[in-house]
Order: sequence, then C-alpha cells, then structure tokens
Amino acid sequence: MNVQISPSILSADFARLAEEAQAVDGADWLHVDVMDNHFVPNLTLGVPVVEALRKSTGIPLDCHLMIDEPDRWAPAYVEAGASSVTFHAEAVSAPVRLAREIRAKGARASMALRPSTPIEPYEDLLPELDMLLIMTVEPGFGGQDFLDSMLPKIRRTRAMIDRHGLQMWLQVDGGITTQTIERCAEAGADMFVAGSAVYGSGDPGAAVRALRSQAVKARTH
Ligand code: DX5
Ligand code: ZN
Repeated sequence: MNVQISPSILSADFARLAEEAQAVDGADWLHVDVMDNHFVPNLTLGVPVVEALRKSTGIPLDCHLMIDEPDRWAPAYVEAGASSVTFHAEAVSAPVRLAREIRAKGARASMALRPSTPIEPYEDLLPELDMLLIMTVEPGFGGQDFLDSMLPKIRRTRAMIDRHGLQMWLQVDGGITTQTIERCAEAGADMFVAGSAVYGSGDPGAAVRALRSQAVKARTH
C-alpha cells in the first residue's frame, strides 16, 4: 500500500494559489476544500477556482466538498477538472447514485465522515467508492488539534476494507503533522491531508517530504 500526501490549500495564500501549488510539486495530490457556509460555518471557493487551479498545476486535484446538496453540485467539480471528488455522508441524499455519477464522469468517488459519524452503516457501500475520508477534526477550519479518538474508527475501517478485499484508499484530514501522521499510518490510513503542517512551514516541499517519510516508516513497521 502506497503512502500519498495531499497538501490542503486551505492554509495557502489564496492570492497566490498557482505559486502555492508549485511549492508542493512533490506531492501526490492537491487537496481543495470547498465550503459553503451551510454544511460548515466557513466559506472558501467553488468551481471557477477549481478550473483555474486545474490550468495552473499538473498535480491532480482532490476536491473535498463540505457543502449541502452534494448530489446537485458534485458533478460540476469533475467537469471543472477534479480527479477525485469527496462528498460528505451527512449531506448526501443518494450516495450510490452520486458515486456512480462521479465515476462515470471520470473521477475517483469518495465519501467523508465527520468525527461523530460511524463507518458501520456504510460497510455495504464501500465497493461503490474509491476512497473513504475519516475526518480527524470537525470540518470547517484548518489548524485544529488532531482527535486521537478517531484512531479506533480508522482501525475498524481498515479492517473492513481488507476483509472485503477492496483496493480503496483511506484518507485522514485534520491535524495531520509529523507528530500525528505515524499514529494514523499505523492505524491503517494511506492518504494524508495536511494544511497548516505544509503551508504553515517555511518550506512546503520539505514539509511534504518529512510527512511522507514519517508515514512510510510507520507503515513498514
Ligand atoms: C478542514 C479541512 C482540512 C484542513 C486541514 O475542515 O477539511 O482539509 O485544511 O487543515 P490542517 O491540516 O491544518 O488541520
Ligand atoms: Zn479537507
């Protein structure tokens, strides 16, 4: 299982997004947090910014939609150039239909769980998804402390994925740093989002390399 790092531009300088994307060109993905001021109490960016980013970077875009009515809005993010689109379990009406639509349009389909949302009701849906995102903070803001209480859910989800023989990725997002990434990797996560740990550091490229080496070390233990 490969370790993948997805720096979150939520902590980047929004006035210099193209340069900020360049600064992490060793990353596997660029994590784009879309917030609508309804599903979460914060407002960020939408389809036009995703289109502009798509033109200015070769790094595939990992769009995390923290929005109401993803059934209605998610397909436009695939059309805008996202290679992976994540909708929230708490907001979606028809997850199977939406995941199939995202895949049919050519992107990877992913579903996210807030900290208080259990994985168990979704076990039978996993084959419809390419990735599951376990939030390790309450969604809405960067720079929050990692919730250690999410580690058992990560472990249970990894066991479920393996039991079903699925190839899907398990992403964690929120409070991921060189201090916390090892715990997540040991618990079974393989795709790591980091905002402040990357863009809050003086050297984003070096921060990505440091995170990757910590995660690889933990996963080979
Ligand atoms: C929070 C977002 C995250 C955020 C993570 O709701 O989904 O992607 O950028 O930021 P850090 O890594 O600073 O916790
Ligand atoms: Zn995110």
